[in-house]
Formats: sequence, structure tokens, C-alpha cells
Amino acid sequence: MQTKFSVEIGKLKLNNPVLAASGTFGYAEEFKDFMDLRKLGAIVTKTLTLKPRQGNPAPRTCETPAGLLNSIGLENPGLEIFIRDKLPFLKKIGIPIIMSIASEEESSEFLELVSRINMIKEVAAVELNISCPNVRGRSNLISQDAEATYKIVQEVRKITGKVLITKLSPNVTSIGVIAEAAEKAGSDAVALINTLGGMSIDVEQRKPKVAAGIAGLSGPAIRPVAIRMVWEVFNRVKIPIIGMGGIMDVSSALEFIIAGATAVSIGTANFINPKISAEIVSGLKEYLTRNKIADIQDLTGSLKICSQR
Ligand SMILES: Cc1cc2nc3c(=O)[nH]c(=O)nc-3n(C[C@H](O)[C@H](O)[C@H](O)COP(=O)(O)O)c2cc1C
Repeated sequence: MQTKFSVEIGKLKLNNPVLAASGTFGYAEEFKDFMDLRKLGAIVTKTLTLKPRQGNPAPRTCETPAGLLNSIGLENPGLEIFIRDKLPFLKKIGIPIIMSIASEEESSEFLELVSRINMIKEVAAVELNISCPNVRGRSNLISQDAEATYKIVQEVRKITGKVLITKLSPNVTSIGVIAEAAEKAGSDAVALINTLGGMSIDVEQRKPKVAAGIAGLSGPAIRPVAIRMVWEVFNRVKIPIIGMGGIMDVSSALEFIIAGATAVSIGTANFINPKISAEIVSGLKEYLTRNKIADIQDLTGSLKICSQR
């Protein structure tokens, strides 16, 4: 049986629905010796800002039960150095490149970044990271406020024809409301979830194990929360969802797709097994064949739920 494995995120066609999540795959070159990068559906870059950022003081990560806390603080070389040093390798891979961007303070930084990215034809899509919990200087995340989300997405939408993805935070009361705001403002897709705010303490020193104090939790510990949020958002919006949060294997990737994700992103799992994305691609194909499913898109949101409250 011929199975259709490609998916569409707006006008962007991906050969398969497996992406590398922002911040966990560097700028892809770091992974070139471990796997054939062309096996991925797309690569999302580490979030970039206009100017270089040094990030937060060490220690920046710590392991927790079934999870990882991090507060990297968006360390990145800034747009110019990215274009000079990182983009040439990414361009050569031959799969869609999604550039994740963040603005440190003002929306004008987003607009400046996007107007520069508009000129890079090899960049297939822009992911607005309005949900990074690890940057000081702003009391609330943009993605914690529906109006602010609407405003920034709409401003960016006005100036770009590139596929626009909005990355959402789980640190909210209703992620469905925020997803709706992104959709109304013209986002082509939503990506969820970013890390969940967390903390871990060294009891002898009575200090946080991650220097910044509050950090972002990722990995299997957050998976049930992420799946619940994908399901909620699936029931609120029509645009595609890129689901992530603790995907470690084929089965967990399938959970996200069945809950409503069109595509999935692999994050923390890359640190444990750098070949995991390619393995998940093969495993998903095998699942489709075994279950005689002709098109992966038929699985999206196919959850059989008996009773809805
Ligand atoms: C070390 C680390 C760095 C991250 N950096 C970014 C980032 O720069 N931009 C972003 O949008 N998300 C970032 N994330 C969040 C991931 O992309 C992903 O949303 C989150 O970790 C949940 O997926 P996971 O449990 O599979 O890792 C980072 C996560 C980790 C663990």
C-alpha cells in the first residue's frame, strides 16, 4: 500500500511530519555526524535575536525526575553572525529551514528580524518564539496575553509572505484562547508547548540548581500536559498544530498526532539519542503500514473519545 507521509503547514509542504525543536538541535551541523539530516521533515533553528546574546549564568540545566530544567537565556550569535556562519550549512541540507526568532524588548525587533529574513529565500518559515520563559526584562510573556499575541502576530503577518508559526507557552490559564488569537491574527500554524516553568533546589546549599532560579521544564515529565494542550487547541482552531513536549519515541509522537498535531517536534530526546528523530520517522511509517492508514493526515485528531464534559 502506498502511504502518504507528507504534511502541509500553511503553504509549506514537508516530506514527513517530524521536526527538530528549537534550541535542542543547534543549527543542525552539530548533528550531521549522527544522522542523515535529510530524513527530517524540517529543522527549527535555535531562537535568534537581532543582537548576540550571551545567555544566563551557569549552571543552566539540571536533571529532574523524567525531565530537564533549563535556563539558557536565549544564547545565540545574533542574526548577522547566523547568516554568515550558520546559514550556509543549513541551506545545503535541502530540507525546509524554519527560523525561530525572539525579540528582547519591543515588537520592533521582531519586525526588523522578519524584514531581514524575508530576503533569505532558503528560509521556508518563521517561528515566533513569544514563549521563552528564560529571558529577563519582561514581566509577562507575549504568549501569556491574547491581545499581545494578536498584536504581534498581526504586525508580523502584514510584512511577510513566509509561513508564520507562533510558538505558545503552557504557562497560561487557557492555551486555547491564545491559539485562537494567533489564528485570528493570521498565523499559519501554532507550535506547542514551550517549556513549563519549574524549579529545583539544592537543599544543602539552599540554592536553586539552575542559577537563574526559575527555569523551563521539558522532557517526558511534561508530556501529558502537552498532549492535553494539543487536544484543547485542536478543538479551538483550524490551523495546523506542531506538537511537542516530551516526545521520546514513536509511541509518544503518535499520541500528539492522534490528539490533533499535524507535525511533531523532537526536543530533549535529541540530547539522549541524537538519532532519535530519524528513528521516529521510520517508526511512524511502520505504524501507518501496519494499521493500513493511507495518509498520515487521517491520524491527526483521530482520538476516539467516549464522553466529553
Ligand atoms: C536546552 C533547551 C533549549 C531550548 N531553547 C529553545 C529556544 O531557543 N527556542 C524555543 O522556542 N524553544 C526552546 N526550547 C524548548 C523546546 O523547543 C521545546 O518546546 C520544549 O523543550 C518541549 O519539548 P521537549 O520536551 O521535547 O524538549 C528549549 C528546550 C531545551 C531543553
